Amino acid sequence: MATEIQTQADVKTVAVIGAAGKMGQRVSNNLVESDFRVLFSEASPKGQELIRDLGRELTGSADAVAEADVVILAVPDVVLGKVSEELVPLMKPDTVVLTLDPAAAYAGLLFNREDIHYACAHPCHPSVFLERTTKEEWQDTFGGIAAPQEVVAAYEGGDEAKQELADSVIRVMYAPVVDVHWVTVKQLAVLEPTLVETIACMVGALLTEALHETVHTVGVPEKAARAMLLGHTQVALANTLKGSNPFSDACLIAMDYGRESIVRDDWKKVFEDDELDKVITRMLKIKEIKR
Ligand SMILES: NC(=O)c1ccc[n+]([C@@H]2O[C@H](COP(=O)([O-])OP(=O)(O)OC[C@H]3O[C@@H](n4cnc5c(N)ncnc54)[C@H](O)[C@@H]3O)[C@@H](O)[C@H]2O)c1
Repeated sequence: MATEIQTQADVKTVAVIGAAGKMGQRVSNNLVESDFRVLFSEASPKGQELIRDLGRELTGSADAVAEADVVILAVPDVVLGKVSEELVPLMKPDTVVLTLDPAAAYAGLLFNREDIHYACAHPCHPSVFLERTTKEEWQDTFGGIAAPQEVVAAYEGGDEAKQELADSVIRVMYAPVVDVHWVTVKQLAVLEPTLVETIACMVGALLTEALHETVHTVGVPEKAARAMLLGHTQVALANTLKGSNPFSDACLIAMDYGRESIVRDDWKKVFEDDELDKVITRMLKIKEIKR
């Protein structure tokens, strides 16, 4: 009996705010499989219906955050300031607030309380070089279902136990997780948006636009163009990021021509602090970063 009481007391409560959203659903699906006690909160009536249809009980945000040891704010970044203003004052001292993107924390938008711990964890998504073996792993392009992924997280408080608690929630909600890398909020903001959205996702969109031009302006049959692009994209990434094979001499000349014609000479300015501030204020639709 004593052991049972001890075990009950050890169970941590995790509240998911915005549980019907894209990320809210993903993290909830994994948390319900864990030993955590999970409370689900959702503002939109349609989202609330979805949660009920999943057989999950809804808890009002105020009640959920007052009970929770860890609060996951899975709401859109543009409302994180307002939502944190409403909910952080209702939390128990020592609660861990976990956001899923660093922009709001970097911009100083989160309501601040000295006795609350703020962490942020962003999924890396399964690597393009992941050695996938099952159909489920191949289908899980986003991660969080079957394909292992890494996570980068930020916590600038000094409480190791709270960081460990955040780490244990992160490993469950983004599972299967290979590893969690801990960095500062600013470093996480340089990774996302700068490295992966401003650059990598933009390059992905550029490839899609290039395919469209090849097919619709030049008139190359779509199947041929698509096959050529997808295979060469794989080889380009393996050769550059993994060093698998050298490019041919002719390819290197074409690559130089591409860089001269397409890439601005000053493109690396996106790594400067002012530029990071510029993109984050634009993303969050705010006037300035608060420091
Ligand atoms: N979508 C992605 O691919 C992705 C990936 C990584 C991280 N993120 C981050 O995850 C967070 C959530 O993004 P998303 O894309 O899942 O958003 P979303 O728009 O899909 O979902 C947000 C949910 O929050 C609900 N909501 C809004 N205000 C609320 C409130 N006050 N109380 C309770 N619920 C409320 C909305 O009704 C909605 O269901 C953001 O910080 C985002 O940057 C998103």
